[in-house]
Amino acid sequence: MTNTLLILPGDGIGPEVMAEVRKIIDWFGAKRGITFEVSEDLVGGAAYDKHGTPLTDATMAKAQEVDAVLLGAVGGPKYDKLDFSVKPERGLLRLRKEMDLYANLRPAQCFDALADFSSLKRDVVAGLDIMIVRELTSGVYFGEPRGIIKEGNERVGINTQRYTESEIARVARSAFELAKRRGNKVCSMEKANVMESGVLWRDVVQEIHDAEYPEVELSHMYADAGAMQLTRAPKQFDVIVTDNLFGDLLSDLAAMLTGSLGMLPSASLGAPMANGRPKALYEPVHGSAPDIAGQGKANPIACILSFAMALRYSFDQGDEAARLEAAVEKVLADGLRTADLMGPEGGKPVSTQGMGDAIVAALDAG
Ligand code: NAI
Ligand code: MG
Repeated sequence: MTNTLLILPGDGIGPEVMAEVRKIIDWFGAKRGITFEVSEDLVGGAAYDKHGTPLTDATMAKAQEVDAVLLGAVGGPKYDKLDFSVKPERGLLRLRKEMDLYANLRPAQCFDALADFSSLKRDVVAGLDIMIVRELTSGVYFGEPRGIIKEGNERVGINTQRYTESEIARVARSAFELAKRRGNKVCSMEKANVMESGVLWRDVVQEIHDAEYPEVELSHMYADAGAMQLTRAPKQFDVIVTDNLFGDLLSDLAAMLTGSLGMLPSASLGAPMANGRPKALYEPVHGSAPDIAGQGKANPIACILSFAMALRYSFDQGDEAARLEAAVEKVLADGLRTADLMGPEGGKPVSTQGMGDAIVAALDAG
């Protein structure tokens, strides 16, 4: 099967970190015989500058066809005053919506060399490796009715938390499938004590488990208790599955257990395509970082680890993904640090390019 990949570097540091991913992609082609048909296109402010829209129909169509989309970041001060309909983030939102990417995978993994970077004690986070699966296309961010209405002589802001059974079932399946490839454990988080949607969430997750994944260990937790447990003893978890709103908060919380924004990858997956591969968009969690753009300071690891996720989840190359993650671990253990990773204990300062080159060298050595 050919491997097709659409690269959308975007704005700010997006193109800088993506250039380092290109080196990694080339390495896998040259040294491991894993080749990709790569196309590249514009998204966000870069697309607006050229086409007057943050995502053209042609780019959207291309994204629907390929096995995986890899995106850098979008946005920047230059575009802040644009009309909402053409803002850079609309390009990203359109991709997520039209590809129907309902499962957002946010790993929180603590590399030993960076354990002192966490806001928590070293022994609480060292070796941490958890995955938060956030439902991404429904829930209170999309539910109708919504709006600000007038009630008597005051305004009322309204949003609706709404989940259908099938929306819950499909993201639950994503979580159970992931767990089977990891630690075989899923914890589902909602607020079934106070929300109807939470009651349904809990029931449907349990039903899917009992009918299709009885071998996976399943537990349920209220999302507020989950937040406490994530900061008290995060290593108790393997896969956490939760809705859009709680997932937004819990994944950001979990991210900070592990240190810098420059280290965090993500994947957003949808339904399987004709070739069996899921619709997929991979992107670092960070934004376009205009404060450091163009200075060679950006940490490319978040984007490189996003490509590792693509190897694992789109191209069925789990061993090669692990090889890449080990190379990242190695350069960190060797003390190489982009500016964002430079802690009190110091390290060997490297630029964006220096970090990319070092990871390629570690792949060569491994
Ligand atoms: P940001 O993530 O771009 O930056 C936050 C801070 O983290 C900055 O100090 C930045 O220098 C640093 N940082 C981020 N990524 C880094 C990396 N790889 N290496 C080293 N340091 C890094 O978030 P911010 O400043 O709130 O937003 C900047 C722009 O990015 C805005 O236009 C925003 O809309 C956009 N944005 C885009 C996202 C996306 O494309 N998915 C996500 C978040 C923000
Ligand atoms: Mg968030």
